Amino acid sequence: MKLTALQSTQRQVKADAIVVCIQQDGDRFQQEIKQLRKHFGKRIDQAVTLEDFKGKESEILSFYTERKLAAPRLFLVGLGEQKKLSLEQYRRSAAAVTKQATAARVKRLAFSLPAPVESKNGFSASSIEIGEVLAEGAYLATYKYDKYFTEKKDHKQNIVELILFDPTESTTKSLKKKLNKVHIVCEATCFARDLENAPANEIYPESLAEAARKSAEQYGYRAVIWDKKRIEQTGFGGLLAVNSGSAKPPRFIILEHNAGRKDLDTIVLVGKGITFDSGGISIKPANGMSEMKMDMSGAAAVIGTLEAATRLNIPIHLIGLIPSTENLLGSAAMKPGDIITHYGGKTSEVDNTDAEGRLILADALAYAATYKPKAVIDLATLTGACVVALGHLASGMMGNDENLMAKLKTAGEKTYERVWQLPLYEEFEKQIKSDVADVKNVGGRWAGAITAGLFLKHFIGDYKWVHLDIAGTAILEEALPYAPKGGSGVGVRLLIEFLKNWTGK
Ligand code: BES
Ligand code: MN
Ligand code: ZN
Repeated sequence: MKLTALQSTQRQVKADAIVVCIQQDGDRFQQEIKQLRKHFGKRIDQAVTLEDFKGKESEILSFYTERKLAAPRLFLVGLGEQKKLSLEQYRRSAAAVTKQATAARVKRLAFSLPAPVESKNGFSASSIEIGEVLAEGAYLATYKYDKYFTEKKDHKQNIVELILFDPTESTTKSLKKKLNKVHIVCEATCFARDLENAPANEIYPESLAEAARKSAEQYGYRAVIWDKKRIEQTGFGGLLAVNSGSAKPPRFIILEHNAGRKDLDTIVLVGKGITFDSGGISIKPANGMSEMKMDMSGAAAVIGTLEAATRLNIPIHLIGLIPSTENLLGSAAMKPGDIITHYGGKTSEVDNTDAEGRLILADALAYAATYKPKAVIDLATLTGACVVALGHLASGMMGNDENLMAKLKTAGEKTYERVWQLPLYEEFEKQIKSDVADVKNVGGRWAGAITAGLFLKHFIGDYKWVHLDIAGTAILEEALPYAPKGGSGVGVRLLIEFLKNWTGK
């Protein structure tokens, strides 16, 4: 989908439909309606008098416009109550109206750029900021994973161009630049979604690595891929142990943006790349196991972020580390009771082969220290316990630096890829104490997301670290306003916002 900023007016804009966003209450509602009446006639009044349209969140009313207008249709979309107004309301409204327009086979959809909002209950936003999130909501809402349908009926129906128009030249000009960026981030998010939704017979460690290599080649960042031999030589005991039940070899993927730039801060992202998690010998129940093709969502977020950071030319030295394997139960599979020696020499006892994510992350987190990073952020679909705690609306956040966590919280609120801190209390340590090794890979029933975080903490180096458990936010059992069921691509928008704030660019 193309994103275009256009200098035009409601009367003149050439499109299949115009969209006008309207707040539910306050003087804004009357003002907008008055404005619309000029161009679209009295039917607007009827709709309001008959209360066919109140401006409730994501409420939509469509009209056929009267003569003298270039566009044949008008969609009014509600923004909801003024006191709840936020950027997210605009994203959702754009998503709702874009989905309806798609169903109406609209090809070119033109949003009238809304007026700025000045400090309504602590919320203010410029027209440009609003335009950015409208485009974002619309773009992400049209995503479909339809690669494997032999007849792509729906494909032909997709909106090809999303236009944001405003009568002022300067506004349109700056919006255009912003829309390019929005497009890059949305494309990277949808790339991550594609990787997540791909079945495990398409995306396995070798093909995941190839996908990363292809992206790196296309956009100009560096990809180095370790094969099994190299992984053995380096001593990634966790990755090898988890891999031992699989016929497919493991990979360790190293991505790098701004390689060799010693003048820039180094940040390392680590992504869990389990391309299928059966649980191993501690096998999972059959019900819902297919979701575990998305157990590489952390990896997808890291690849997407590297791609977007490169295309946006963010001035940061960014490393992506992805340990990748399947977790299966072949005859050589790791077994409960096994003891693993990880990269760096620490040992762990495997009490449950289904707690495999932390085993592969342990190697990668220990290895991350070799880059002497300013910060390390790992993303992993790590625990069902985190989904129990936070559902699908927030990623669990743990770490050793409050300041770094505050930065991620800010980025999370802005992008609505929200994070919520869970406490890494020392007292929980006893749950993962092992009688035979440095640490045990499961901590019992309670505080499962936290004991997983504490396990990881054993392997971090001397750096500032945040762990994001994205088990709930990456794998959606039901659609959200601008993410269909399945892989959400969570992490890309969050991390890009975080990196932009970090660099001040
Ligand atoms: N990949 C799963 C976690 C998961 C569960 C992600 C549901 C998304 C949705 C992870 O490898 C796992 O199996 N974790 C176990 C840990 C347990 C054995 C301590 C879990 O959460 O049950
Ligand atoms: Mn598991
Ligand atoms: Zn897993």
